[in-house]
Formats: sequence, C-alpha cells, structure tokens
Amino acid sequence: MARILTGIQSTGTPHLGNLLGAIRPAIDLAHQSDNESFLFIADMHSLTQVKDGATLRENTYAVAAAWLAFGLDTERTVFYRQSDVAEVTELAWYLNCFFPYQRLTLAHSFKDKADRLEDVNGGLFSYPMLMAADILLYDADFVPVGKDQLQHLEMTRDVASRFNHKMGETFVVPKEMIREETQLIPGLDGGKMSKSKGNTLNIFDEPSALKKRINKEIITDATPLEDPKDPDGAVVYNLYKLVATEAEADQMASALRAGGYGWGHAKKALLEAVVDGFAKERDEFNRWMSDKSALDAELAKGAERARAVAQPVLQRVREKIGF
Ligand code: ADP
Ligand code: TRP
Repeated sequence: MARILTGIQSTGTPHLGNLLGAIRPAIDLAHQSDNESFLFIADMHSLTQVKDGATLRENTYAVAAAWLAFGLDTERTVFYRQSDVAEVTELAWYLNCFFPYQRLTLAHSFKDKADRLEDVNGGLFSYPMLMAADILLYDADFVPVGKDQLQHLEMTRDVASRFNHKMGETFVVPKEMIREETQLIPGLDGGKMSKSKGNTLNIFDEPSALKKRINKEIITDATPLEDPKDPDGAVVYNLYKLVATEAEADQMASALRAGGYGWGHAKKALLEAVVDGFAKERDEFNRWMSDKSALDAELAKGAERARAVAQPVLQRVREKIGF
C-alpha cells in the first residue's frame, strides 16, 4: 500500500475555483484508491506571508471546514494542521544542513515571491526545506502537486537522496503526482478565478451576499432582453454550466439563443443553482465554523495519527546524525 501525502495552503475561505478545481478532485482521489492518504493544512508555510494571529487561525479553520463540508472522510484520510506536529520543524533544520545554499538560491518560487512581496524573509528562502520535511517526515511515496510545485518536489527528492547517500538509507524518496489543471474555473470577470484578482464566487457566503456579487460583478453585454444571445461567450452561462445539471444548462443555452430571456434571468438562475446546489455544504461549513472546538478536536485526532508516524522517522534521523 502506498502513502499519498499533500499539503494545502491556508489562504482563506476556499472559492468555487478551489472547490471544483482542487478540493473535490482531491477528495475523490483520496476516497477512490486503497492507498493511505495524508492531507494537512500548511499553516507554518503561511506564516511566511501572514503576520496576524487571528487571520492565520481563522484561515486554517476556514480551509479545514471547507474540506470537511465537502465530505472529506477523516477516518480514511489523516487530516491535520502542520503546526500541530511541530516535529516537522526539527526535521526541516536537519534537511537545511544537508542542502546546498546555492541550490536554494535557484528556487523559482522564491525569486518570484522576492520580486512581488514586501516581506521577503528567511522563512520564504528555506520554504522548500520545510516542504521537504512535510513529505519526508511521513515516508510518503507519492505527492500530488500542481505544476508550480514541481521544483520543490525535485528539491525534496534531492535532499532525501543526499542524506541517504551521506548517512545511509533513511528516507523514502517520494515521487510527484502531477495534478493537471483538469478544469479551469472562470471568475466573475471572465478571467481565471483567483483570490488575488478579487473575482471569486464564494459559495459559502450568505445568499444575500452571493446575490449582490453575482448581480454586480458578472459582466454582460448590452443585448436587449428580447434579442438572441450567445451563451458560450457569457460568463454567467459558463459558471451556470459548472454548477447546474446538464439538462438545466442546455435549457438556459436554448433560452438565451431563442431570445426573450435576459441576462438578469440567467443571473437569477445562477444564484439559485449556487444557493440550492451547495446548500448542504454551506450548512456543514457554517456548522463547523460555529463550533471551533469540534474543528480543533477533528484536527487533533489527525495530528495524533500523524505524530505516530512522524516520531519514529525523526528518531531514525536523529540516530543517523549522531544525536
Ligand atoms: P488562488 O488563485 O485563489 O489564490 P490558490 O493558488 O490558493 O488559489 O489555489 C489553491 C488550489 O485551487 C490549487 O490547487 C489551484 O490549482 C486550485 N485553483 C485555484 N483557482 C482555480 C481555478 N480558477 N480553477 C481551477 N482550479 C483552481
Ligand atoms: N507549497 C505547497 C503549495 O504552495 C503547499 C505545501 C506545503 C505542500 N507542504 C507541502 C504540498 C508538502 C505538498 C507536499 O501549494
């Protein structure tokens, strides 16, 4: 049985793009295979950017609540918060000592962030070694990641091999599982939906807030209500297609093409599909968010299972090092 492990960033409440593009497929993968799966919220990595305790804590809760609301089975998946298994920082230090400084300076993600961000700290620089520790601490065999994380995975394999070579066989050298972007979810403005672009549809929002955003932010052309319209070029239809059934989407497409059906009608249908279609998930999300101690308990359970795997691995490393 192989062990699959991946980390998720805690950048705030997941939006429709995160949910359909990443969370739902990951849950399907975890539930389909007979592999063992580990999933954690990388809040220590978030600290490189977020320097506000309440925000960091709330973001982690929101991400955890979203995964749970979408049905992550925490019996089958070890689901935990990175900072709850602080052993990872000890391993990160060891790995840092086995990895050439020069190689870290070649990390694309660091260069990219150093150009963009104001707070360019040392944590950002050694980020890849904390990520390597996340993976090596659990003897993971496979790591599902997006293409942007490929170089971090190469560094993980590299540092594991270097350590094994110098100190004797210690780490499992993991393989990446590249997550193709199966489906790119458009944002309210038609570009890629992304937090950084402010064009997100936040399906956990209250219906009144959703209504406001859909009506205000989705751009439509000025075709009069009675005229025929092209569904395929319209954001409202493209989003509707993602959340409605196929029959409902066909119906909207025909109505738009026929004329006498306005963008306002389409927006109303989209709102209903989002409000009704995710009603169960919204309720679950709100239930978790209003009971943080239940969330903490769930994550603590995962951390305990994670630690049981991590501690013997760390012991193995300490012995090899000479501690
Ligand atoms: P954001 O761009 O909003 O900051 P992240 O970069 O935190 O989102 O992405 C988290 C996960 O969600 C990644 O796996 C990413 O591939 C996926 N994702 C984000 N936006 C979209 C989108 N518009 N369509 C499909 N998947 C997306
Ligand atoms: N760096 C990853 C990202 O930005 C998140 C992450 C942290 C991760 N640790 C990991 C992913 C370990 C996979 C394995 O998406």
